[in-house]
Amino acid sequence: MSYKAILVNVEAGVGCVQFNRPEALNALSRQLMTELVAALREFTADSEVRCILITGNDKAFAAGADIKEMMEAGAVDMYLGGFSALWDAVYEVKKPLIAAVSGYAFGGGCELAMICDIIVASETAQFGQPEINIGGIPGAGGTQRLTRAVGKSLAMDMVLSGRRITAQEALATGLVSRVVPVEALLAEAMKLAKEIAVKSPVALQLAKEAILESFESPLSAGVRVERTLSHLTFATDDQKEGMRAFSEKRKPFFKGK
Ligand code: CAA
Repeated sequence: MSYKAILVNVEAGVGCVQFNRPEALNALSRQLMTELVAALREFTADSEVRCILITGNDKAFAAGADIKEMMEAGAVDMYLGGFSALWDAVYEVKKPLIAAVSGYAFGGGCELAMICDIIVASETAQFGQPEINIGGIPGAGGTQRLTRAVGKSLAMDMVLSGRRITAQEALATGLVSRVVPVEALLAEAMKLAKEIAVKSPVALQLAKEAILESFESPLSAGVRVERTLSHLTFATDDQKEGMRAFSEKRKPFFKGK
């Protein structure tokens, strides 16, 4: 499939999507989100792809949903328009998703990064939910995911005042997992993605499912889900291969079965 608003490639088990609307700071238009979801579906169907990387450019990961596109929309257009379903489709991806963020990650850009499983930030990354400045509030999970990531006080501060936080602040609060120099961002994020891509795909999927469950369930129920998923790994060839390789002092080769 050919795309206009994104660039797509696959390298060493990693499917990469780069937003390609530099003239609009990668604002997440309906077309861009539709293409992103299509690319993620292609990656899901491709057994060679074991980890997915989503990135923007040095100036912007994404400066939000496309304001110009939605400024005249009514509530019913928003409710029935299917735009939210595109965000849900990103959340439903089972393979690991890494966001590599430089520059602005505002509004929907911040929300999209937070839907990803890991955020790697460059030193120039800035995160914010500035919808309040344009008379709105976050609409793609920001009030929920930001609060879980950084806590109530900072989430309120950011959402109510429109305050942006730096990469270092994001690291200190746990919103991102690592911060690297801007020129090293893609290489570092790719390195991480490739490290993940050689693990057992089925174990990766089960681990992701178990961690996401922690946001949905009370502790004891989450632990029960984890135990079931952990026991399920013992039904896979990859678990047998992994443990045998350890005892035979060799590298495992995971086939995803
Ligand atoms: N939607 C549409 N276009 C956008 C955009 C957005 N979210 N953000 C930037 N652009 C466009 C600008 O309109 C401008 O286009 P023109 O050259 O045609 O005028 C171009 O990108 C460059 O932007 P600036 O000139 O403003 O660049 P800057 O470096 O001076 O400022 C910025 C950068 C601070 C990010 C500023 O562009 C800005 O405040 N953008 C809007 C941020 C925002 O409010 N995001 C939330 C959107 S709502 C949302 O996301 C809802 C949701 O929860 C799903």
